[in-house]
This record gives sequence, C-alpha cells and structure tokens, in this order.
Amino acid sequence: KKRELILAIESSCDDTACAVMEGRKVLSNVVANQSVHAEYGGVVPELASRAHQAHIVPVVTKALKEAKVSKQDLEAIAFTSGPGLMGSLLVGTSFAKSLSMALGIPLIDVHHMRAHVLAHLIDGDDMRNPEFPFLCLTVSGGHTQIVRVDSPLELTVLGETIDDAAGEAFDKTAKLLGLPYPGGPEVDRRAQMGNPDFLAFSKPQIEGYNFSFSGLKTSVLYTLQAKQKEDPEFVQNHMDDICASVQKTIIEILLKKLVKVSRDTGISHIAIAGGVSANVGLRKALETTATEENWSLYLPPFEFTTDNAAMIGIAGYYLWKDGHSADLGISAKARVNL
Ligand code: KG4
Ligand code: ZN
Repeated sequence: KKRELILAIESSCDDTACAVMEGRKVLSNVVANQSVHAEYGGVVPELASRAHQAHIVPVVTKALKEAKVSKQDLEAIAFTSGPGLMGSLLVGTSFAKSLSMALGIPLIDVHHMRAHVLAHLIDGDDMRNPEFPFLCLTVSGGHTQIVRVDSPLELTVLGETIDDAAGEAFDKTAKLLGLPYPGGPEVDRRAQMGNPDFLAFSKPQIEGYNFSFSGLKTSVLYTLQAKQKEDPEFVQNHMDDICASVQKTIIEILLKKLVKVSRDTGISHIAIAGGVSANVGLRKALETTATEENWSLYLPPFEFTTDNAAMIGIAGYYLWKDGHSADLGISAKARVNL
C-alpha cells in the first residue's frame, strides 16, 4: 500500500513554512520566521517576499530531511493560494507548481483560513480532535472569524471582523504604548502583572456575530491622552495595568460573540486557532467560560495555531482524498472567501 505522503507549503505572510504529512500525521513541520520586519513595526510586504525567496529552498529541504522522505515518494503538493500578501503568496505558489510539475503529482490549493481551522484534525500525541459540528474562533494578526465546521470540507463563516483583526488590536494598542512589534506577546506578558479593572474602554455595539476592533484603538488613544494631560508619566507608571485593561476588553469582545453563537446554534464543541490563541488571559477566560457554558474546549499546541505548513497539509489531505486538484494555471489570490 502506498504511503499517503503530502508536502505542504505556506508563505502567505511573513513565515516561510514546509511540512511533510503522512495522512493526518505530521512527519515534519519547519518554519522560518522573518526578523527583518521588527525594526519597521510591522510586516513590510516587499521584504517579506524577498525573504520567502531566500528561505523556501532550505525550508523545503529541511522538511523532507526531517521526515526522512524523498521527493519521489510524495503523492501530492499542497500550498496556500490565499488569502495573504500577494508577493509572499506568489513565492509559495510558483514553488509548489514547479514541484508538482516536475514530479508529475497533483497540486492542491488550500485556503489559509480553512487550514487554520482544520489544524484541529491533525492526528498527534498532544492533539484532541473535536467532534463535528464544532465552532472555531480564529484570531490572528490578519483575521478574526467564528467558523462552523460540519465536516472537513464543510466550513461556514458565521461571524468575522468588519475592520481590524484581534491581533491587530493588540499590536496597534501596543504601538500606542510604545511597546515593540509584535505587541501581542508583550501586552500578554505585562497584563499578567497588571490590574484588568484599572481602566475601562468602550466596547463596540454591533448586532449579530461580527466583531469590530478599530474603535478600541481610538478609545485607548483618547483615554491615555486625557490621563497624560494630568500626569505626563501616566503611561510609563501604569504600563502593566493599561495592558491588562486593554487585554481584558479584547477578550470580552471575543467571548461575548463566541458565547452568543454557541448558544444560538447549540454547538458546544469549541476550538481556537491563530496567533492570539497563545494569549494566557484568553486561554484562562475560555476555560472559565467553558465550565460555565458546558463546552468541550480544544486548545491545540502552539506550533499548530500560529502560521505553519502542517495545517496546510491536513487541509490539503482532505481535499486530495476528495479528488480535488488544481490546474497548473492557478494563481494566488490576495483576497478570497472561505
Ligand atoms: O497567526 P499568527 O502567527 O499570524 C497571522 O497573523 O496569520 O498571528 C500573529 C498575531 C500578531 O498580531 C501577534 O501580536 C498575535 O498574533 N499574538 C498574540 C500573542 N502571541 C501572538 N496576541 C496576544 N497575546 C499573545 N500571547
Ligand atoms: Zn494565519
């Protein structure tokens, strides 16, 4: 019997990643981060694209080596076709196309946000796979969505942000506070030492299941400007308390909608994905809410929640099993619906 070996490539933003999967199991999962963006306070698309070009061959080589798999044994190539930064997506897309053509095996295009959700279906020692149907809250630097998953191929977006993503809310408020990029982890660290009830920020009033985070940034800015007028040292002296208060607000916005969707749909299997799911405060709040609402909560290992290629591999695996394959003329798409 042939081994179900799939090589997967992810290059949608600032991480160049490659994984080798055998069915639902991860044989290797390699990520090269890009440090070039830190000094600019955000991802610079042109620099990201160039760094992907420099990283892609070594990353793919390393993934094959760690998996102890030779290219000739691969059954399919999966890659992220969108959404993401165009120049970044094109590097992975052209590489995947060439490899699939050279090896004469199917090319599987994968939607980045579907992959974040389907990472929960990976078969691994420290993974608990959710039962269907489940809800996934995907919270990253670029996206905030609540997705209903009825099967590996049936995903429906029930709610999403109408402006900034949750990760952006962390990063932008951190920038206001003069903290280094990316601000999320730093706000998280400081929030653990601060008082979450120190300041109150206004929360969006939006009907239904959608989110909005752009107002929070403005609320933080105006609140701090007023406080700084009275005390020029205010931010410096209360950094941890401010971080804790901002973080609390973001978590409340996220959880309010997640609880609403769960109650309305009657779905109590709840999963979380994306970089912001590393947030300690969010994880604690989810655990408390899970007890109150009788949820089964699925918090996957960190390596499968931030951008990685194993998630592209698992999503590609289900598409491949379903007989899907992309035409070699396929191009990357910066914006594409789930
Ligand atoms: O999923 P991800 O690695 O990349 C994409 O955006 O696709 O998410 C990155 C985002 C950044 O906004 C970063 O600040 C945020 O996740 N993040 C966090 C934490 N770790 C990463 N936000 C809050 N608390 C954290 N511990
Ligand atoms: Zn992502």
